[in-house]
Amino acid sequence: MLLKDKVAVIYGAGGAIGGAVARAFASEGAEVFVTGRNLAPVEAVAKEVVAAGGSAEAAEVDALDEQAVDRHLQYVVDRAGRVDISFNAVGIANTKIVGVPLAELDAGQFSQPITAYATSYFLTARLAARRMIPNKSGVIMTVTALHSRTGLPLVGGYGPAMAAKEALTRDLSAELAPQGIRVVGLRPQGMPETRTIREFFEPRAKAGMTWEQFQEFGASRTHPRRLMTLGEMANVAAFMASDKASGMTGTTVNLTLGSLDD
Ligand SMILES: NC(=O)c1ccc[n+]([C@@H]2O[C@H](COP(=O)([O-])OP(=O)(O)OC[C@H]3O[C@@H](n4cnc5c(N)ncnc54)[C@H](OP(=O)(O)O)[C@@H]3O)[C@@H](O)[C@H]2O)c1
Repeated sequence: MLLKDKVAVIYGAGGAIGGAVARAFASEGAEVFVTGRNLAPVEAVAKEVVAAGGSAEAAEVDALDEQAVDRHLQYVVDRAGRVDISFNAVGIANTKIVGVPLAELDAGQFSQPITAYATSYFLTARLAARRMIPNKSGVIMTVTALHSRTGLPLVGGYGPAMAAKEALTRDLSAELAPQGIRVVGLRPQGMPETRTIREFFEPRAKAGMTWEQFQEFGASRTHPRRLMTLGEMANVAAFMASDKASGMTGTTVNLTLGSLDD
């Protein structure tokens, strides 16, 4: 098992990526503490993990609330002895972000995802790092999207938000890797099972595109001519969180199936 006895905290675990990562981490032997802004979806993930023979505990934690994140991390350390992995999978509803041309976008609407994504990642990473530094060990992870590195229309501040998170991954690593802590992001291709991709589809639907055409367009840009699955993304997440990936830090793994060159 890749993550036997590792203690992992996942933020936004009630969502598609956070839930898939929690299941993959647990199936590789990690004790997972799943958190979300609302308790019900994270409780469902925890129940699923436990029913499959894994170890999981759910808690309501707003990943933009510094005190709440700090209190929960202290609870994890008191209960499990340490925190080995922090994974920020928080996603802000794209319906509030996408669909308006930049030329018409309000400044507040533009900056909202940049502030929220970067601040949430910063807070969860910083508070985990403070617990990891004394152990000289730990892995801090998050997820971004190809918008960080390529120009796409009608996505408001989402691209700058993703680019900010990738920059923060590099900077966190530059400061924390000398203290034994790796920082690694994942940049997956769109996964059509998720509500996120449905939200990105909405403006195109209004312009007359069908769901099938939207998926075919995304797939046509990849080398295998298909989109990614949550399971594929989560398997890479488990490997990157494991000691087998000790050579990876200060970078974002390009999981775009060839649609974005390094
Ligand atoms: N899905 C994809 O194909 C894909 C591909 C590449 C990158 N990404 C990126 O990966 C991230 C996660 O995507 P996803 O598809 O898993 O999104 P999702 O299914 O919408 O999940 C996001 C989760 O984050 C929670 N959340 C929002 N604000 C929070 C906060 N302040 N504190 C704690 N939890 C909070 C949401 O809770 P509520 O339901 O209460 O809002 C939701 O459970 C997003 O940044 C997304 O853009 C997604």
